Amino acid sequence: MVGQALATRLVELGHDVVMGARDATNDKAAQWASTAGATGGRAAAGSFADAADHGEVVVNATSGMASLDALAAAGDAALAGKVLIDVANPLDFSGGFPPSLSVCNTDSLAEQIQRAHPDARVVKALNTVNADIMVHPERIPGAHTIFVAGDDADAKAVVVGLLTEFGWREILDLGGIQAARGLEMYLPLWLSMMTAQGTYNINIHVLKP
Ligand SMILES: NC(=O)c1ccc[n+]([C@@H]2O[C@H](COP(=O)([O-])OP(=O)(O)OC[C@H]3O[C@@H](n4cnc5c(N)ncnc54)[C@H](OP(=O)(O)O)[C@@H]3O)[C@@H](O)[C@H]2O)c1
Repeated sequence: MVGQALATRLVELGHDVVMGARDATNDKAAQWASTAGATGGRAAAGSFADAADHGEVVVNATSGMASLDALAAAGDAALAGKVLIDVANPLDFSGGFPPSLSVCNTDSLAEQIQRAHPDARVVKALNTVNADIMVHPERIPGAHTIFVAGDDADAKAVVVGLLTEFGWREILDLGGIQAARGLEMYLPLWLSMMTAQGTYNINIHVLKP
């Protein structure tokens, strides 16, 4: 869902996208590539390794419980030097709904990814809103906030550029990758707000005097 939302919007904006999956012949990825490509966009499908090899920017939009495995399959060499946008949440649904976090407090999925791939330039972003809002922030009226966190300032600048292309106007840099802990631990609050409001299309606006 997230992979398709981001990939579709990126192709619409003129970027060249390869959608990765465990199986290089994944039906959903192939269908996406054929639909997005038919609009004149540059879209292809392949394995996680194909996607990581291809991209100047790599997006981790895999199930949080499987992200380390998926990125291991993508390969350390393919990720080295690349901006890696981590949108995943480490949600553990094994005990039902609401999910728990498989990592929290003193660590985060984004930090685990950064440690596993030290030469990748990991930026946590977009995990605090649903897929549709990620790429169409204007669907929530008024000003609202999206966050970035990562250790590499140049990588964050690339991500801020993409977020701006998506239409984000209030982008709050929370500092280093450790700030991903808060972004991931926000998910229980997001899930409660989503349930209370009865819609996935919610976000917060950070204000100061
Ligand atoms: N849904 C949202 O609106 C939303 C919003 C914010 C953040 N997120 C986060 O974004 C991520 C993607 O969410 P989603 O709802 O689009 O989809 P999802 O169903 O959580 O994840 C789909 C992706 O995970 C891969 N995957 C699943 N199990 C795997 C395994 N055991 N090993 C390797 N890869 C595996 C799938 O690969 P295959 O294609 O090969 O099956 C596919 O690429 C999640 O971490 C989610 O928490 C979601």
